[in-house]
This record gives sequence, structure tokens and C-alpha cells, in this order.
Amino acid sequence: MDVYEAVTSRRAVRGFTDRPTPQEVLERVLGAAAWAPSGSNLQPWHIYVVTGTPLAQLKKLAVERVAAGDTWDEREFVMYPPDLKSPYGERRSAFGRERYSALGIAREDWEARQRAAIANWDCFGAPAALFCYIDRDLGRPQWADLGMYLQSVMLLLRIEGLHSCPQMAWSQVRKTVAEIVSPPDELMLFCGMSIGYEDTTVDCIRTGRAPLDETVRFIEG
Ligand SMILES: Cc1cc2nc3c(=O)[nH]c(=O)nc-3n(C[C@H](O)[C@H](O)[C@H](O)COP(=O)(O)O)c2cc1C
Repeated sequence: MDVYEAVTSRRAVRGFTDRPTPQEVLERVLGAAAWAPSGSNLQPWHIYVVTGTPLAQLKKLAVERVAAGDTWDEREFVMYPPDLKSPYGERRSAFGRERYSALGIAREDWEARQRAAIANWDCFGAPAALFCYIDRDLGRPQWADLGMYLQSVMLLLRIEGLHSCPQMAWSQVRKTVAEIVSPPDELMLFCGMSIGYEDTTVDCIRTGRAPLDETVRFIEG
């Protein structure tokens, strides 16, 4: 698989089989992803990989908590600005429409949407999860470094035949994650990522992208 294929075959997979992800594969992927660039080589990512019994326990605690209607942990960062302006608001709505219509869920069926959302905290059935933390003292450029690191992880997973789903949803129950991974106080959870082999029987959506000329300008001489 070349890099183009890894990039275009990566998508947020929301249905995994329970086939375990070999430890040596995870180590190979994370070892290579560490070559991701970061400003002044700060390497600001702090990663916890959770599998087996601890992951089963985390899923149970999180799913039970969300299903019980427990309130989210207070936010440590704003996921999306309120009143997303154009074109972001439209893109977000289009994504929601595509996702719920693929699941056969009507827009106004709040309960069904909740049920679908709860699958986040079951890692969509995945047997492995990664949690990406950043030091609270670091700033926006270091958050961008996290993105480069996480995309490297996701592309390498593709080359290993694995899929992933990055999930900010985990930040909403960050205290439950902390019960399992015990991060030091100075770290803040950015996101989780479910990792595993795709369950191809689960319906999936191939999200679209804005046309190139909406997001890229070539300034030519
Ligand atoms: C930082 C980040 C957080 C995300 N959080 C979630 C999440 O909590 N739950 C989820 O199902 N998808 C989540 N996604 C997946 C996005 O919805 C998905 O990447 C986007 O719709 C584009 O679709 P694609 O990745 O399948 O191409 C997240 C993606 C990123 C990059």
C-alpha cells in the first residue's frame, strides 16, 4: 500500500471485529509514528494504549455512565466554537445528515441518535484504544503537532491492515478515562482513538470533501 492509498483508505471506522490487535503491530506503528514532525522537536504527545481487561472495564464504566444520563465532565477545551460560521456550520450539518441517514436514523429521533453516540464509548467494538494527552502548558502549535502525530498513526495502521476512529467524544468522560490510565495532573486529554480490524458487515459512510478550489489557492507566477 502506498501513501496515497493509505491516505484515501483511511476513514473513521465505526464498526470493528473483536479480532485482537497484535501488540508487536501496535508497537511498530507507534514506533514509526514517533517520526512525525513537531515544532523544535518537542514531541508533545503523551499516549496511553489500552487493551484487554482495562479496556473492557473502561468501556463498561463509560457506557454505563453515558447511558445513565450522567453529565459530561467539565470541558477543558472548546470542541467547536458555538454558532459555527459558514462554511463550517454547513459542513458539520452535512456530516450529521450523512451519518444519521446511513444509520437510518431520522434527524428528530434524539433517542436513536443517543444510542448511536453511545457506541463511541464502546470503541465501536474495537479491541484497542489509544488516548492522546497534551501538557496543559503547551499552546496551539503543539496541538497541531498532535494532529500530525495522530494522522501518522492512522496511516501506519492502514498499512498494517488496521482501521481507526479518532474520538474527541472521550474528552467528555475524561475522568473515567483517567480512572483507568492514571495520567499525571499536568496532562489534558485531547482525544481517544479506537483501533482494530473493520467489521465489514457494519454500514459505513464515505464522507465527502470540499472541492479543492474551496480550500486551496494556488498563487502562481
Ligand atoms: C480530532 C477528531 C475527533 C473526532 N471525534 C470523533 C468522535 O468523537 N466520534 C466519531 O464518531 N468520530 C469522530 N471523528 C471522526 C470525524 O467525524 C471524521 O474524521 C470526519 O467526519 C471525516 O470522515 P472520515 O474520517 O471518515 O473521512 C473525529 C475526528 C477527528 C480528527
